[in-house]
Amino acid sequence: MIFIKYMVAFTTDIQKRDKLMVHDRLLIVDDETVIRDGLKRILEGESFDVETCSSGFHAIEIMQQHDFDLIITDLKMPGMSGIEVLKSVRTLQPDIPVILITGYASVDTAVEAMKNGAADYITKPFTPDLLLEKVRNALSQRTISQEETHLKEEITLHHGFHQFIGNSREMQKVYHRIMHVAATNSTVLITGESGTGKELAARAIHENSPRKDKPFVAVDCSSLAETLLESELFGHVKGSFTGAVQTKTGLFKIADGGTLFLDEVSNISLSTQAKLLRALQERKITPIGGTQLVAIDIHLVAATNKNLKTMSHEGTFREDLFFRLNIIPIELPPLRDRKQDIPILIRHFLKKYTVEIGKEIRGVAPDVMSFLENYSYPGNVRELENMIERAVVLAEGDIIRNADLELWDSSDSAPLTRIERIPVNMEELKEMKRHIRDHAMESLESAFVRNALERNNWNVTRAAEETGILRPNFQGMMKKLGISIKGEH
Ligand SMILES: Nc1ncnc2c1ncn2[C@@H]1O[C@H](COP(=O)(O)OP(=O)(O)OP(=O)(O)O)[C@@H](O)[C@H]1O
Ligand SMILES: [Mg+2]
Repeated sequence: MIFIKYMVAFTTDIQKRDKLMVHDRLLIVDDETVIRDGLKRILEGESFDVETCSSGFHAIEIMQQHDFDLIITDLKMPGMSGIEVLKSVRTLQPDIPVILITGYASVDTAVEAMKNGAADYITKPFTPDLLLEKVRNALSQRTISQEETHLKEEITLHHGFHQFIGNSREMQKVYHRIMHVAATNSTVLITGESGTGKELAARAIHENSPRKDKPFVAVDCSSLAETLLESELFGHVKGSFTGAVQTKTGLFKIADGGTLFLDEVSNISLSTQAKLLRALQERKITPIGGTQLVAIDIHLVAATNKNLKTMSHEGTFREDLFFRLNIIPIELPPLRDRKQDIPILIRHFLKKYTVEIGKEIRGVAPDVMSFLENYSYPGNVRELENMIERAVVLAEGDIIRNADLELWDSSDSAPLTRIERIPVNMEELKEMKRHIRDHAMESLESAFVRNALERNNWNVTRAAEETGILRPNFQGMMKKLGISIKGEH
């Protein structure tokens, strides 16, 4: 594979002859159409796959959807500079070389770029030959550094990372992203369903950063009213509003030198979003009622389980703030998409709760294990953890059995596997098939409803909401299936 790549990069004749070969994919970032198109033409002429875009923000978005082998970016661009693009790439995909294009006047910045990990830089104007030489050099360096990184990965990430358990490929990617972003000051946006470990990730970023001895300040943006949130974040001056009896230092200032974690950031009102954007752009804040700008030095990490991009299309979240936050995205995969982590998580939580609760439990019955391994976990790791805790509390023997957990209704599954009578004609066969099908459907529905209730502490309103069913319809299903709230009959 490495050899094939090497040949693709160096032997353009072979490339041209063999269209079936995998070609290196390049991304060009430049705000000037003429330059973008010029570069594209030169590189496509040598059979590279070339994608272009006009801003750094856009580049980061494209990089999340496609893999690239090399990025070429202009240094001076409005909004997000080439250096910022470089830093993001170093964090998002550290293996990908970045070449910067600079004007004559900015060679100093180019030197700074090299210090920040750029593979190379080209000063304008340049010849197509020089460009191609630099591109090929950067691509060949890449293969070597990739091999090295791969070796390191295998050694350091065997079981998990900090508080994280799980070594699936999906999680390894997350651990690497955390490590890289911890070394930078770029804003991070952590996304993922509820219970996937977003807060754990934010803390791990802080713990791995040079800021680890300074404060980690977490703010739950969903729990505070708009004005309260603003005064919490920015602070206020005594007498600036009714109730401001004392001057209050904002969390931006309290987190100075450290990490500020804005949890559930989608809940911030549009007017506070504007203030937050300004603070991030200027790295300065004004306390409410104050006149002086206060410089802030924080690493901002935000998290949400909503899709901020969709929200920005709908007008409920500012697009410019979304771009600012999304400089380094970290997406935590749902547990159902990394099933191989389930057994190790079960072992981890079993150990944790047997010690905590003081019970000796040897393991999990095979049918329970197979249920747990195939379950969809809408509440992700948190849900699995709660299930194991409950199982340890309820277990009557030294093995966790379904009878302790009631994960599924055992009486339901029996008739499905037992054929009571063999049909003797078509009519009977059809009738029995229909019966079995109805029964299977009912078992499924019953398990679904019970489980939704279980997850929500038998709160019907919340269970209906979570499953996306109207409350009266959910109640109708419960009635039809003979399920009543625990304790009621
Ligand atoms: N990979 C993991 N290994 C071990 N424990 C985990 C893992 N992921 C999550 N947890 C645990 O699951 C619980 C939920 O994690 P966390 O609070 O970080 O999730 P979250 O994504 O912030 O959820 P929410 O969106 O509901 O706030 C915590 O107790 C955390 O310790
Ligand atoms: Mg959380």
